[in-house]
Amino acid sequence: MPILSGTARIAGIIGWPVAHSRSPRLHGFWLERHGVDGAYVPLAIRPDHFATAVRGLAQAGFAGANVTIPHKLSAFTLCDSVDETAHRAGAVNTLLFQDGRITGSNTDGWGFVANLRAHGVAPDRGPALILGAGGAARAVAAALQAEGASVTIANRTPERASQLAADLPGLAVVSWEAVGDALRDHALLINTTSLGMTGHTPLDLDLAPAPDGLAVADIVYVPLETPLLAAARARGLRTVDGLGMLLYQAIPGFRAWFGVTPEVDDALRRFVAADLLPA
Ligand code: ATR
Repeated sequence: MPILSGTARIAGIIGWPVAHSRSPRLHGFWLERHGVDGAYVPLAIRPDHFATAVRGLAQAGFAGANVTIPHKLSAFTLCDSVDETAHRAGAVNTLLFQDGRITGSNTDGWGFVANLRAHGVAPDRGPALILGAGGAARAVAAALQAEGASVTIANRTPERASQLAADLPGLAVVSWEAVGDALRDHALLINTTSLGMTGHTPLDLDLAPAPDGLAVADIVYVPLETPLLAAARARGLRTVDGLGMLLYQAIPGFRAWFGVTPEVDDALRRFVAADLLPA
């Protein structure tokens, strides 16, 4: 931990719980690398204290904060203004406190797309099929649409898929049972469900019918190679793991709070990944 001055810039991550978050490690790496006079701290804030705590952080001179589960919708409601990405996602993951105002953005979708590009996968390479209809699916779908991709979603609970399609014009829906068949018509498959995460059941999907050009992305990053990604790799398909999205989504906040544009590189990836290995 560096010695801070009286004008150090302070930001953090607000969650409940927050102990699992890798964001302090990630931002701490960049702070040290760039010699920033600043700190990024975990902020465990209960849902019923969220609004009071955020206003207090702003009044206490924090530069801003990231917001994670379960606060992303509350953050959206609380902000004095939100940008287009937050508006489309209906949720906020990055807060900026400036001139007495709280502004919000959502960098999850941007992070997903930036990570795709870093893996040589163009977001508009062809039709995308998203599995899941939660907050992550919404952010990813909105970002891919903004890149000009045609996007279809499938979700176990069809009502949530229909709701998302109603909120994002142009979004198509297929049934959860039809995902295997739908693979044939897609160039990009993205898992945004919790299936495949350590402690959860794997996604049960046969990739045999997938076209050779299908790229497969997972936003789950524990484990780094999910059963879905392992199957895609075995099938010879291009894969994109979920860690990169976590790393990239952090860039806009760091830049806004600390005035330096940080980079995602192998050293950062290794540093954060080292904390994901089973104990
Ligand atoms: P987040 O905001 O992180 O995306 P979420 O809102 O809890 O999280 O969404 C989790 C997603 O994983 C949902 O699409 C959920 O499907 P339902 O809407 O049907 O609940 C999906 N999911 C979780 N467990 C699943 C399972 N066993 N089979 C299929 N989908 C599952």
